Amino acid sequence: MTFPHSPFLIGPVSVPNRLVMAPLHEITDQPFRKFIREVGGVGLVVSEMISSEALVRHAVKAEKMMAATGERPLSMQVSGGRPEALAESARLCEAAGADLVDLNMGCPASNVTKGGAGSALLRDMRLAERCVTGMVKAVKIPVTVKMRAGWDASQKDRGEFLDFLKMFEAAGVQALAIHPRTRVQQYEGHADWSIIARAVAAGVPYPIIGNGDVNTREDAFRMVEETGCAAVMIGRGALTNPYLFRQILEPDLEVTTAMRIDATLRLFQILLDLLEPREALHKIKKIGAWFTKGVPGGHGFRQNLHAASDPVALMEAIDALRHQSVA
Ligand SMILES: Cc1cc2nc3c(=O)[nH]c(=O)nc-3n(C[C@H](O)[C@H](O)[C@H](O)COP(=O)(O)O)c2cc1C
Repeated sequence: MTFPHSPFLIGPVSVPNRLVMAPLHEITDQPFRKFIREVGGVGLVVSEMISSEALVRHAVKAEKMMAATGERPLSMQVSGGRPEALAESARLCEAAGADLVDLNMGCPASNVTKGGAGSALLRDMRLAERCVTGMVKAVKIPVTVKMRAGWDASQKDRGEFLDFLKMFEAAGVQALAIHPRTRVQQYEGHADWSIIARAVAAGVPYPIIGNGDVNTREDAFRMVEETGCAAVMIGRGALTNPYLFRQILEPDLEVTTAMRIDATLRLFQILLDLLEPREALHKIKKIGAWFTKGVPGGHGFRQNLHAASDPVALMEAIDALRHQSVA
């Protein structure tokens, strides 16, 4: 059985199973990636997107995003719309220890697309081609792409993504993740998995990684069955349930409330180990809110979380949640 246990190759890089943590801006930073690996089950993690323009001007914040501590394999994702900057940023990611470098061709945010980056590249195939070709030529590690189904419904309906697939093949791209919403859809509606199925049917030589709306073990198996994708990439599902990767691998794993609270605490400890306390607090406020969705007492906890002004107050909020949930 191939999914989910067996390894797969992205170029020469072996990914130990078929489960990938999606890149999430301001979330899949070094502490979160360490955390999600520790929880277990994930085969490949992808950094949050890093602006190539910020990297080439050596902006400290962007350089920090390349920090990595022995997480293998690790994909670093860059965004941008200028081939030279993307090529240089790919080189910087390779030098920083990335096993793979990914080009963001999906971000719908207007502050990204107005610079020609993210999903805006879907509107300019010639430029997209120069971007990926420049990256492939710049590094020895495999270059991958993450894309949406198109800019809008009409581009999607014309099947232009299939032309992109062929262009990626010719340019030497070694894996493609597809989040089959259009840019116009943002995060609304459903991810149209039939787009992933059509991409797989196109028979490109590199693996297609399916993404979008996988929130349960059943969703993951259904995506593979319906589309034939080589691996499944999960974003929000792993934020509400960081044990999801393990649950896909281990059908009998039951996730208790205590485990979810422990996860919140563990992530906070890792954040405190790796970041300044203020930054750790900011991050846990954001991510802890996802982790406790549906947990009894979660609403009150999120209020306490929001109000916490220092790490001690935050630990107390976690303790209170634990007591409430076992009461
Ligand atoms: C908070 C948030 C941040 C995201 N940041 C990125 C990013 O940095 N790069 C990227 O390619 N996609 C990003 N995405 C899109 C996700 O990687 C993924 O494609 C999308 O959420 C659909 O998958 P899901 O249904 O499993 O969440 C982001 C999504 C969310 C919700």
